[in-house]
Amino acid sequence: MNHVILIGFMGCGKSSVGKALADALHEQFVDTDVLIEEQEGRKISDIFRESGEEYFRELETLVLRQLLRSEERQIIAVGGGLPVRPVNQKYLKQLGTVVYLMAQPDTLAARLQGDDTRPMLQGGELKRRIRELMDAREEIYDGLADVRVVTDGKDFAEIVKEIARYAG
Ligand code: S3P
Repeated sequence: MNHVILIGFMGCGKSSVGKALADALHEQFVDTDVLIEEQEGRKISDIFRESGEEYFRELETLVLRQLLRSEERQIIAVGGGLPVRPVNQKYLKQLGTVVYLMAQPDTLAARLQGDDTRPMLQGGELKRRIRELMDAREEIYDGLADVRVVTDGKDFAEIVKEIARYAG
């Protein structure tokens, strides 16, 4: 399929960049976290608290299966942990061009400071938690990427322009 899929760590700008890219290309934007919240009728933090992470990860896989059935080209932002499951990696490659929005841990920490909507970052020191998760995920993001874009120090317009050059 021919979708554009944005992957990367929490706080790398997938949703903001995705919306701006979709506007620029006159295409639809979808965010797997938003689809999950709509379908479940509750916030991600409530899903984690009430039903656990594994349940949430199952929902991510189900949403990817739904997206695989959609015909119209879309810009898709996926949750930062979604690419970790091997079956999801297979689906992401089937969906289209995978764009990895890269960001340094310090950039992410600055953007995520004070955020209480992301269960994976609660408890413990923020920068340390980012580094731990990044160590476990970086290779996966990189292995999946068709396009890699460094986002540190760039504004959304610049990032959108770069992606559009490869995936426009
Ligand atoms: C998660 C990232 C979040 C959301 C959930 C879990 C993760 O999405 O899916 O809180 O494991 O990295 P964003 O990357 O859009 O913040």
